[in-house]
Amino acid sequence: MDRGVIIACDFSSRGELEEFLWMFGGRSLFLKVGMELFYSEGPDLVRKLKERGHSIFLDLKLHDIPNTVMRTMKVLSALRIDMCNVHGAGAVTMMRAAREGAGDSGIKLLAVTQLTSISEKQLRDELLIDGGMEDTVLKYGINAWEAGLDGVVCSTWEAEGIHRTCGQDFITVVPGIRLREDLTDDHSRVATPEEARKQGADYIVVGRSITKANDPVRAYERCLKEFL
Ligand code: C5P
Repeated sequence: MDRGVIIACDFSSRGELEEFLWMFGGRSLFLKVGMELFYSEGPDLVRKLKERGHSIFLDLKLHDIPNTVMRTMKVLSALRIDMCNVHGAGAVTMMRAAREGAGDSGIKLLAVTQLTSISEKQLRDELLIDGGMEDTVLKYGINAWEAGLDGVVCSTWEAEGIHRTCGQDFITVVPGIRLREDLTDDHSRVATPEEARKQGADYIVVGRSITKANDPVRAYERCLKEFL
């Protein structure tokens, strides 16, 4: 099973991204391109990053009716990205449609279980989900597994349970990662890279702890050292 540190490139323009990447020289990285950058720069940016040898997790969190998700995934597959995701809340039929759309592209397809910004209280009071965070994430993981997806996006604290239930090969990608001295920002369920390693996560997604660090390359190295 591959493991690694994925950098969340939450920038609003290609210029900002290039400024950031310049610090890493020609090094090949695993980059997460999310909605902000994709909606501002479009698929051409993704093609260019792939040509330069980077691996890409396209984090668009698709959530729509199955047919729309299937057709969209077909389009995204042509970008030869390495990872992509859908919302587990779209249920099994939508996730199966995503799998169908991805065809034999080899893209690792993940389901977002619950966003790491959601708290137990919000789950219960605002989303009216009474099952509790842990059981909800596990159930969404099982649904994703049943739909033939490759793994889930979950918090560090659910990675072990997901592996126990869905198998060690079922990929866990965990955001909400902070170096020990950093702020938690808008996450409710954060962890350090070391804690993520101990919980058996396969990939960590790190944004601001790297992109906003005084020395981003050093922060990235620290994440690698603590996680791998
Ligand atoms: O800056 P930070 O490390 O908090 O960035 C986390 C990244 O992970 C963001 O790009 C956010 O969109 C993403 N994320 C995610 N799934 C979650 C929580 C955050 O993909 N459940």
